[in-house]
Parts: sequence; structure tokens; C-alpha cells
Amino acid sequence: MAKRILIDCDPGLDDALALLLAHGDPALDLVGVTTVGGNVGLTAVTKNALELREYLGFPKVPIAVGAAAPLVRESINAARVHGERGLGDIVLPAATLGVTGSHAADLIIDTIRAAPGAIHLVATGPLTNIAIALEKDPAIARMVASFVIMGGSFTRGNATPAAEFNIHADPEAARIVFAADWQVVMVGLDLTLQAQANGRVIERMKQLGALADDLIVPLATFYFDPKDPDRDGQAVHDVCAVAYVARPDLFASRPARVEIETTGEFTAGMTVVDFDSGEPNALVPIELDVAGFWAYVEHVYGLVAAKHRQG
Ligand code: RIB
Ligand code: CA
Repeated sequence: MAKRILIDCDPGLDDALALLLAHGDPALDLVGVTTVGGNVGLTAVTKNALELREYLGFPKVPIAVGAAAPLVRESINAARVHGERGLGDIVLPAATLGVTGSHAADLIIDTIRAAPGAIHLVATGPLTNIAIALEKDPAIARMVASFVIMGGSFTRGNATPAAEFNIHADPEAARIVFAADWQVVMVGLDLTLQAQANGRVIERMKQLGALADDLIVPLATFYFDPKDPDRDGQAVHDVCAVAYVARPDLFASRPARVEIETTGEFTAGMTVVDFDSGEPNALVPIELDVAGFWAYVEHVYGLVAAKHRQG
């Protein structure tokens, strides 16, 4: 039976590639999408999610809008990375279908409660919606099949030297999320920077036809277009979180105690990862089977591309 997955996201170049994977893998059943302000503002990320839903062909999947800003801090964004509209230079056909009336946190709660033990909850943006849902209904932490985030790092950050963007955007939300009664699978930068779409990956993707030309390749090369086939390319951070749900065998992971720095002048949003002591609250993927990852991702994208060609 397919694994049911709800994705809370801020599309976002790699969020879009993650939605494509979740939609395309027959072993996954995308049952909901919620949006959170992050890479770009809430209106833009929601517009992107709505347009991707129709362009890729999952019109029945509900999309609910969540938090525009972090719990207590001022919003930050990553428009310099993802472009002002959030999907690079890509312009998709306008959506004809709208969002559900509920808040993202309510769609998350209702979806989990309607199928206790069955929903794989994945967050690929700031954790504000997840924190709001936990504050409203703490019991959902014990009712998910798994909870996987793209976020954090046990070495360096990318938003600051200490903090990865999704955690840095809302450290207070992340602290609530990591303190809840569940295991957080923290797919951090140490893992996701192993999943870089280098020249060889891009060349293989280009064989997939129109979907690659119009969406996949532009998403995967917007801020880093590899000229050298073996040089690194853009990291598909969020794709790794969805891939973990479908193919955990591609990841080697270690349990850890993860604490979130919320008061540091230079370290706010740092994930302090202790592999050696303390009660583990997280599972941290350390190593990726890179060849296996790309074989899986390219296979699924090929399935979607074939259907896209058929119109
Ligand atoms: O640090 C990478 C993360 O920040 C990804 O989720 C990317 O989409 C951005 O949100
Ligand atoms: Ca993201």
C-alpha cells in the first residue's frame, strides 16, 4: 500500500522538485499540501503550490495556507536564491483551483486524526505551521507514521555560519517541534549537500523531454548551472526529505539529541546535535547512497515525464 504523505512547504525550487517526487512515486500517496512563508512570501509560495498542483496533475490534493510569518521574529526570505517569485524564471499557467478554507495547521491535524498512524508528515520549510499544529493538538505527535524535515545541520549553516535557513527562519517554532513527543527525522545540510544535481545528473534529466525542459532542469539549475559534468551543482535539499519517506534504505542515520539555539547573537537557529549523550529526540541521516538516490529520483521523474508527454 502506498505511504500517505502530507508536505508542509515553501516552494521554492527544491520544494517544487520534492512535490514532483511525492506526486510521481506510485509508492507515495500525496494527501495534502500546506504552505508557509519562507523562501518567498506566503502569497507567492501558495501561488506556486497551486500552479504546480495543476501543472503536474494532482488537482484533488487539498492545499491549505499557513503562517505568513514566524511565531515571534521578523520574516526572512531566500529570494536571492529562489528568485523573487520563488520558482526562478519559471512561469506556470495560472491556477484555476483554489486553497481549502482551513488553516494549514487544521489540515495537518485533521489529516493525521483521520488516519492515526498512517500519515508521513514532511516539512520542507520553516516549522511555523507544525509548531502551531502541535500547540493546538499536541497528541498528533504520537499519531503520525513518521515526521521528516529538511532542516538543520550538525556542522555549518547556510543562512548563517551556524544555522540552516528553515530553522533560522523560525527558531522558536523549531524548538517546539523538537520538544514534541515524536522522533524528528532531521534531514540536514550535511546530508542534502550530498544530493547535488551535477552536470551528469542534469544531462540525464534532459533526456526526459518537455517536463525536464520546462520544469525540472530550470528548477535544478537556476542558481548553479554546472558546466563541468563532475562539478557539484544545486543541492536538491527538500527532495531528500521526501526520498527518505519512500526509500529510507538510501540513508544511513544516527540517533541524536537535538537542541535549538534561540538566544544566541550569532547562533540563533543553530541545531546543536549531540550524537553521544542525552535522550535522543531525533534521527539524523548522515550518509546518502548518492547513485541510488539519483537512480530513484530520475526513475520517478521519468514516470511523470512520460505521462506529461501523453498530455
Ligand atoms: O536550507 C535549505 C532549505 O531552505 C530548503 O528547504 C530550501 O527550500 C529553503 O527553504
Ligand atoms: Ca523549502
